[in-house]
Amino acid sequence: MASKLMHAIQFDSYGGGAAGLKHVEVPVPTPKKNEVLLKVEATSINPVDWKIQKGMLRPLFLPRKFPYIPCIDVAGEVLEVGPEVKDFRAGDKVVAYLSSKNGGGLAEFAVAEESLTVARPSEVSAAEGSALPIACLTAYEALTRIAGVKLDKTGQPKNILVTAASGGVGLYAVQLAKLGNTHVTATCGARNIDLVKSLGADEVLDYKTPDGAALRSPSGKKYDVVVHCATGTPWSTFEPNLSENGKVIDLTPSFGSLMTSAVKKLTFCKKQLVPFFVTVTGESLSYVVNLVKEGKLKSIIDSTYPLSKGEDGWAKSMDGHATGKIIVEP
Ligand SMILES: NC(=O)c1ccc[n+]([C@@H]2O[C@H](COP(=O)([O-])OP(=O)(O)OC[C@H]3O[C@@H](n4cnc5c(N)ncnc54)[C@H](OP(=O)(O)O)[C@@H]3O)[C@@H](O)[C@H]2O)c1
Repeated sequence: MASKLMHAIQFDSYGGGAAGLKHVEVPVPTPKKNEVLLKVEATSINPVDWKIQKGMLRPLFLPRKFPYIPCIDVAGEVLEVGPEVKDFRAGDKVVAYLSSKNGGGLAEFAVAEESLTVARPSEVSAAEGSALPIACLTAYEALTRIAGVKLDKTGQPKNILVTAASGGVGLYAVQLAKLGNTHVTATCGARNIDLVKSLGADEVLDYKTPDGAALRSPSGKKYDVVVHCATGTPWSTFEPNLSENGKVIDLTPSFGSLMTSAVKKLTFCKKQLVPFFVTVTGESLSYVVNLVKEGKLKSIIDSTYPLSKGEDGWAKSMDGHATGKIIVEP
């Protein structure tokens, strides 16, 4: 395989947006001892992919080097396995999370670590599977690990607010929160209110109205947890809407929000701002793939692009107005 060429999209410097992406032919990667080689069937684009291109993750040494094939959430079929791979063989359908150091998703073939590759049952399409890793596990970890929501409804009742509930993370957050013992308020644009309600939200606010901008619950609820998928909301907007020990889980921490978070901790403030960064594990990925298989969770697809038009999907993601996930299919 290694001498064969494949189509891929890459960038070779910071910046440039969709116009900075280049269609190239490069060698098919070779799996290392604990890796699988995948024929990519679908890749989803996340904001972190173009944030890497913008240089926003340069302090974390991302990307490790140029040229870089972006995107890290994929679904596909195993073609080859490294000598130490135990659980997969050629022909297996899988979902995988590639390392953000190396990227590799916007291509016909990609290599994934065995530990971050999980089986994909026939009930879960490649597009639905590729949508899951970053977006769904962000929602899952924020709700279960930080907010303490138990997805079998055994936990204490909680009032949850999901902001930007129509986005890649938000649509999963609403559905997962409703698997727990929760009341869910959500914010989104007017065009997505019916969709967000249909996925279980108890009340939905249009973020462009005064009440929506103020995050004010129509039923007067105070939030125990905010899964904050939107950006640019000051602490003063959250504060009056939080319950006594309310937590805002900030998915897009800025320097200012990191400072606010530190001050809240140092002053033993009961209301907390929690900066959040997802950690993907094979175990949690397998768990959410199975929720989709069981029909308890849906991946909502905004749009699908062929690899030959991958830059259009990139531009759509950068535009910030997708409803659910953007998929590229080789
Ligand atoms: N920390 C982590 O580990 C982690 C992991 C995943 C994602 N993130 C971050 O989380 C954020 C959300 O990611 P995503 O993938 O969900 O983004 P996304 O899919 O691009 O979100 C787009 C959606 O957000 C809606 N929206 C934008 N501003 C809004 C506002 N003020 N109020 C309500 N809705 C609003 C848009 O609705 P309209 O079209 O109606 O405007 C659109 O439907 C990004 O900043 C991303 O980088 C962080």
